[in-house]
Amino acid sequence: MLHNDHPNRMLDISRVGRKADDLAKHLHETVIGQDEAVAQIVQTYQTHLVGLSSTGRPIATFLFLGPTGTGKTRIVESTAEALLNNPGAVIKIDCAEFQHDHEIAKLIGSPPGYVGHRESRPRLSQDAIDKHHTESAKISVVLFDEIEKASDALWNLLLGILDKGTLTLGDNQRVDFSRSLIFMTSNLGAAEMNAMLSPKLGFASAVADPNDGEKLSERIASTGVEAARRRFTPEFINRLDKIVVFKPLGDAELRRILDIELTAVQQRLYHSAPSCALKLRVFDGCKRYLLQQGTDTRYGARHLKRTIERLVVQPVANLIATEQVCNGDIICVDFCSDSGQLDFWKECREVPEQKTAAAAKEMTQIFHTDVGFWGWMNAAQVVAAPTCM
Ligand SMILES: Nc1ncnc2c1ncn2[C@@H]1O[C@H](COP(=O)(O)OP(=O)(O)OP(=O)(O)O)[C@@H](O)[C@H]1O
Ligand SMILES: [Mg+2]
Repeated sequence: MLHNDHPNRMLDISRVGRKADDLAKHLHETVIGQDEAVAQIVQTYQTHLVGLSSTGRPIATFLFLGPTGTGKTRIVESTAEALLNNPGAVIKIDCAEFQHDHEIAKLIGSPPGYVGHRESRPRLSQDAIDKHHTESAKISVVLFDEIEKASDALWNLLLGILDKGTLTLGDNQRVDFSRSLIFMTSNLGAAEMNAMLSPKLGFASAVADPNDGEKLSERIASTGVEAARRRFTPEFINRLDKIVVFKPLGDAELRRILDIELTAVQQRLYHSAPSCALKLRVFDGCKRYLLQQGTDTRYGARHLKRTIERLVVQPVANLIATEQVCNGDIICVDFCSDSGQLDFWKECREVPEQKTAAAAKEMTQIFHTDVGFWGWMNAAQVVAAPTCM
């Protein structure tokens, strides 16, 4: 049957509802260049919202692989930020802490009669899992980091959670994970990925042509998936909804991340001294310099963040500490080709004292409203000026 026999009955399966769409927008704004991971999270959330998720299992189980500093942990925090209004609302289990079987007691508690019983609260108790629930979202975001380092005992525990959505504690109480989004990350294949991303061998020259960049991402993806299949048992792989290999970040992605990070610096400025209302104006020459100094694809966005700390945040801290800038000043930063360094200077704004206080109050209010951290961040302004002075 031809589909245009029924032109009025065709449906659009690509659209999602408002809540899932809000989540998608937030993830796209905060996590750059990882569209597949975003699409997977949004789709499972949508399926859960309409009550169509499989019963007796977590809402979603994802394994994230890929080069370091590409957003694997960030996307989990961002999901918590969007759903629970708090990027810190992630139950994070660092599997490297549980490499010996006896350490599992920290997660599930000791059985009655054993040392440690009732001495400390198990980290995976129902209360701990549900502690970030809000009125509008009864969802838990759970992250098992570096799962390749987990002991056999932790593996068995994880398999049970993935399969049945429940966990039995040392005192036989059951913990329900059926309202949890479960994320796992691993650095498997990272060494091979790094070799591909080494400036001499691959990425820097490869991404000069976007098609080559795409091919490199594909090679990295298959390296990650193969490494996972070699290391993990089929029964584990079989319980995952999806393995997503994060892409290395290219120039275009780093440029967008730079803007996000500079906005975060502006927000920190307001946060550290709300009554001071200092503003940061970063010129394009400065941005280019930060990108040039902060791009090393082997280390992803972390290298860029460190560069911003070293070249912008630390000098600004010195300016504040020595009172070279104060109430209402605009701190300008641009690259100076003569000195080969960043130049800092200030523009004074004549801000009456009450107005500064009002601006700070406004910022604080936005921070505490339900638009949350990122809403506040977006309210803070990083001004880009077109030319170098
Ligand atoms: N794709 C991205 N979009 C936006 N910011 C990013 C992205 N990737 C990394 N960042 C920034 O870099 C920081 C470090 O990234 P993240 O912790 O997510 O790395 P990771 O992929 O988990 O690395 P690792 O494998 O070493 O744990 C984040 O907090 C975020 O500020
Ligand atoms: Mg991480």
